[in-house]
Amino acid sequence: MFLCPKCKKVLTKKDRSYVCVDNHQYDIAKEGYVNLILANQKNSKEPGDPKESLVSRRTFLYAGYYEALSDALNAVVKQYVGSGSFLDAGCGVGYYLERMMLAHPNLDYYAVDIAKEGVKMCAKRNKQANCAVASVFHLPLADHSLDGLMSVFCPYSAEEFSRIVKENGYVISVTPGKRHLYEMKEIVYANPYENDEAGYTLPDFDCVEQRKVTTKICLKSKTDIEALWTMTPYVHKTSKDDTQKLYNYDTLETTIDFLIGIYQKKRG
Ligand SMILES: C[S@@+](CC[C@H](N)C(=O)[O-])C[C@H]1O[C@@H](n2cnc3c(N)ncnc32)[C@H](O)[C@@H]1O
Ligand SMILES: [Zn+2]
Repeated sequence: MFLCPKCKKVLTKKDRSYVCVDNHQYDIAKEGYVNLILANQKNSKEPGDPKESLVSRRTFLYAGYYEALSDALNAVVKQYVGSGSFLDAGCGVGYYLERMMLAHPNLDYYAVDIAKEGVKMCAKRNKQANCAVASVFHLPLADHSLDGLMSVFCPYSAEEFSRIVKENGYVISVTPGKRHLYEMKEIVYANPYENDEAGYTLPDFDCVEQRKVTTKICLKSKTDIEALWTMTPYVHKTSKDDTQKLYNYDTLETTIDFLIGIYQKKRG
């Protein structure tokens, strides 16, 4: 269930709104999401990923290039979580959530992102999920209410994850593996480097497994090459000339390499 961001009391759905006992009211948008972020929890007027990068992310993901990661996440959820309540903390456009809901329709799903346009896209496609605009640093969810959550290429809060996940519940993280997009980096940089493979630091959880997903994808068009590069943090750190080296390609084979971390909440 969602909590009121102002008084932290339970929100109940009434017609097209959520309301708490103190009568704070949050309207449900026509796409089916609710805005549960307070002005002082935002660092800009439109925080999170801008609409154009969400649109290219959506095109890229729904073309199926990261399906192997999505399948692996579904397998992890089946093996470790199984049933109950599950949150996508930083859902973006909702691609992984959508495929997870199809694979495991028995769970009760929540999705939050700080980017309103992302949550809008996610809610439109995932009518059965409870979607909200919120920050992962101020999650509008009750203490110890979740059986699991995933955090895929997103900022995270160890304190908030510890507060909302039940004892023995799970955090599933996704971070880049060593060789992620290495061939793209070889084109752009004179001295490409491998990523440090770092999982999450979650003092109240035990890391029970780290699983790698490594494969090659063949980007079929300039649009797909550009969409993928735009999704990475490198895009902001690369000169126009270096970026152009990549954009001269019509097709490109590259490694995708992900580290999935599985963390179980300690007792007590
Ligand atoms: C790299 S994208 C990943 C999105 C999605 N998990 C995926 O893999 O497609 C990072 C996401 O984190 C969101 N984000 C950034 N800061 C956030 C915060 N403080 N709280 C919630 N979401 C945040 C962005 O809006 C963006 O959608
Ligand atoms: Zn309230």
